[in-house]
Amino acid sequence: MAGLTLRGIHKAFGDTAVLNDIDLDIADGEFLTLVGPSGCGKSTLLRIIAGLESQDRGSVSIGGTSVDHLRPHERRIAMVFQNYALYPHMSVFDNIALPLTMTRLNLFERLPLMRQLSPRRRRVMDGIAREVRAVAEQLRIESFFHRRPGQLSGGQRQRVALGRAMVRHPQAFLMDEPLSNLDAKLRVHMRGELTELHARLGATMIYVTHDQIEAMTMSDRLAVMDHGNILQLGTPAEVYERPATTAVAQFIGSPAINLFPAHVGPGGQVELLGRTLPIDVRNAPTPELTVGVRPEAMRIGGGPCAVTCRFRRRENLGSESILQFDLAASPEVAVLCRVDNSIPIPEGEVPLAFEPRDCHVFDNNGRRLEVESRNAAGRDVRRASEAR
Ligand SMILES: Nc1ncnc2c1ncn2[C@@H]1O[C@H](COP(=O)(O)OP(=O)(O)OP(=O)(O)O)[C@@H](O)[C@H]1O
Ligand SMILES: [Mg+2]
Repeated sequence: MAGLTLRGIHKAFGDTAVLNDIDLDIADGEFLTLVGPSGCGKSTLLRIIAGLESQDRGSVSIGGTSVDHLRPHERRIAMVFQNYALYPHMSVFDNIALPLTMTRLNLFERLPLMRQLSPRRRRVMDGIAREVRAVAEQLRIESFFHRRPGQLSGGQRQRVALGRAMVRHPQAFLMDEPLSNLDAKLRVHMRGELTELHARLGATMIYVTHDQIEAMTMSDRLAVMDHGNILQLGTPAEVYERPATTAVAQFIGSPAINLFPAHVGPGGQVELLGRTLPIDVRNAPTPELTVGVRPEAMRIGGGPCAVTCRFRRRENLGSESILQFDLAASPEVAVLCRVDNSIPIPEGEVPLAFEPRDCHVFDNNGRRLEVESRNAAGRDVRRASEAR
């Protein structure tokens, strides 16, 4: 396995820039996930790393060596696609063995007629069979070696596609939404399997997904992309707890974060819908602010930080509910609150409260601002929470 380095990767299709000078270091053995809205350039970046697409500028290095001049198969990288890309007319065994037979047998030895005639072919095939079996054992797919992909479930097909990638002992795995064709239950199962596989192989993996839970639970780090840029790179906890921009805050977290218009008051404190919050802001370029509060940080009740809302409806998730409100001051603004199902459903107008430390404050360009938040006693709670 090896780490990867991307430097200044730029790509345009016609006049449209799709990747804007991407710099990224992926450590040996790291599980890095690319997330971002549709069309932001995730697949293009993977294809450039794999050598399936060429960049206009910039360079890709694997294990410290530039691979820009190498063709895809010479890069020793395995790509696993959303649609599995298995050959339908070949058995599971032959699909997994294919990368090895293509490199270890010559053209004549690959002809069906040669099967019986070439002793060398038999020796090579015995070795390949051992390797395929070792990989299949790890993925628990030996029992359907002789089936064709059409005779397998989606999860089984995905495992065969993984097997075909693993058998090459690649320096890194690139996975483009590998679980998105599976039903919800199977996705959860395969998520666990992929995480275990990553731990067992110690493999470098770059993973693309739209699925919040996959991104949060599987990754060592997330790269949140938008319009061909990396907006934030960090551990799932860092990105969730300290989103760098409103775009990141809106993209990570489900249901999405609540965003409220606010501004800097005369004393430097945040003013939100006529209330002065116990939060001091410095270095705001203009007085306009946006305050973000995650639905799970809001509770029904009053307090120094609160907004008045009118209850609209409830979405029952089983053990908890998402309550949807309209902001009383501007009914077009929806406010979400994630609560335990033991909490009685409110009626009419109610205050929704949150803690100062749960407020994410952004400037008029959507960039995160450093703030000092205080509790009712005036103590600096942000600093207290960081010391913990
Ligand atoms: N071969 C191509 N020719 C022209 N434009 C392309 C080509 N491939 C991709 N694009 C454009 O480049 C942009 C990025 O595409 P890409 O497939 O990388 O997005 P993505 O982040 O993977 O999106 P999704 O989440 O929908 O898979 C899109 O606007 C897409 O239309
Ligand atoms: Mg894509």
